[in-house]
Amino acid sequence: MKVLFVCLGNICRSPSAEGVFRKVLEEQGLLGRVDVDSCGIGDWHIGKAPDLRAQQAAQRRGIDVSRLRARQLCEKDFSESDLIIAMDHDNLTAIRAMQPQGYQGTTCLFLSFAGQPQDAVPDPYYGGEQGFENVLDMIEAASNGLAQHLRPLI
Ligand code: 4NP
Repeated sequence: MKVLFVCLGNICRSPSAEGVFRKVLEEQGLLGRVDVDSCGIGDWHIGKAPDLRAQQAAQRRGIDVSRLRARQLCEKDFSESDLIIAMDHDNLTAIRAMQPQGYQGTTCLFLSFAGQPQDAVPDPYYGGEQGFENVLDMIEAASNGLAQHLRPLI
């Protein structure tokens, strides 16, 4: 089972989701059963570490995302990923535009696992520190819901 988190730049939301979800899986003894990765729609930040504000916000919750490096969504991701999870509606539209015919996996919005099927994780890039805290709160709620969803499947 492979889960791929996708945002626009792969330096704020999706690496945070990768780090938080890994921690949730670890706490629930499920880490060995799920492969977790993240990437971005855009190519601007390829090779970069997560935004310092995202690193620091995650660190305050005991999560180290400093070693992650941004990469761009590519065709191989569709053959390798069972679940491709978008942070917002634009990400989901871009993922589905790239999705090959016959893709067997699922594409969806992350907050659907937090019981908010229509809602997006807002882009914190141009805001302040509080935006990163809000994003982490949403990501934690959705990560717990996602682990609950996957548990009977893995
Ligand atoms: P992310 O945030 O999609 O959560 O990684 C962004 C990071 C960078 C940009 C946009 C969003 N940017 O335009 O450079």
